[in-house]
Amino acid sequence: MENLSAKKFGVQFHPEVTHTPDGRELLKTFLFNHAGLKGDWTPQNFIDDTLKSIRETVGDGKVLCAVSGGVDSSVVAALLSESVGSQTTCVFVDHGLLRKGEAEQVHETFTKTFHPNLIVINAHDQFFSELKGITEPEQKRKIIGENFVICFERNKAVLESHDFLAQGTLYPDVIESGSATASKIKTHHNVGGLPDWMKLKVIEPLRWLFKDEVREVGRALGLSSEVVDREPFPGPGLGVRILGEVTPERVKITQEADWIFREELRKSGLNRGIWQSYAALLDVRSVGVMGDERTYEQPIVLRAVTSEDAMTAQAFPFAFEFLEHVANRIVNEVDGVNRVLYDLTSKPPATIEWE
Ligand code: XMP
Repeated sequence: MENLSAKKFGVQFHPEVTHTPDGRELLKTFLFNHAGLKGDWTPQNFIDDTLKSIRETVGDGKVLCAVSGGVDSSVVAALLSESVGSQTTCVFVDHGLLRKGEAEQVHETFTKTFHPNLIVINAHDQFFSELKGITEPEQKRKIIGENFVICFERNKAVLESHDFLAQGTLYPDVIESGSATASKIKTHHNVGGLPDWMKLKVIEPLRWLFKDEVREVGRALGLSSEVVDREPFPGPGLGVRILGEVTPERVKITQEADWIFREELRKSGLNRGIWQSYAALLDVRSVGVMGDERTYEQPIVLRAVTSEDAMTAQAFPFAFEFLEHVANRIVNEVDGVNRVLYDLTSKPPATIEWE
């Protein structure tokens, strides 16, 4: 409805969702023709303002930036690198539950693109020994979260010699946590909350941005598409994609199957239409036959979904031949796998992750 003379407008549906025809046009007309806004936000304006404000806030202090390899923390690191690079240290905890090649890629991105110092904490042994014998999903999440904190505690000296902690908090996180204030460190499910003794002041350069804007900023800062277009990856990593016990052997199986699936997605170009895709390892065994031998091995489940915001998701409708090809490759190339399944369930009632 509209009342032009009273300047009142209303809708009783959701113009912002992608399924609404001309929803964007409707919003644009309201904002630019009636509400007097200009729409002059550009990634470059944002970068200029942010670099200036980081310099002002930090002064000659020292900044610590925890990075995960994901797009948000990489963009924060790039902004710090441009503004207070020599005063910045990035910390990357490698818990051994990343995708194949991901830890190396983080290292390469940092050495090639950014100037700050990077500390890599290799915590494979710590995480694997704490996860030994644990099969319950929430317990795994808790252990992984707690061990992030333990990694930080073991490196207390580094933390205590810094004044600021930079975080990749986005606007949706701010909304979700009600009233996130700059002084309060958000209990982030990726890191399970940070300990009280960390007396660092928080800087959150992305707290007014949505994910697509962060990606635009990343591109404008010259980050590669591998970083900017990276799909969301859960903080507990493969820990929630390996059902049952997480062991180095089972991580290896999952990484190899996941690698093959994603390689085929890239080759076919199908990855561009997919929100998240991965291979999960199930906690059952089934009988198969390989050559003349009977096998008794584990199944891999392939999951690929389309989504707007991870709140709902649909299984990607692959052609049968594509799935068959990936299944053949995985069974032939990955030791320990003798069956491949494709998960057809949408969210709800399923979730995107298996655990
Ligand atoms: P679900 O499985 O709930 O996932 O449909 C929704 C989105 O959240 C991600 N996810 C997580 N991210 N820590 C994270 O940082 C977690 O424990 C976690 N669990 C799920 C998931 O990958 C998807 O993008």
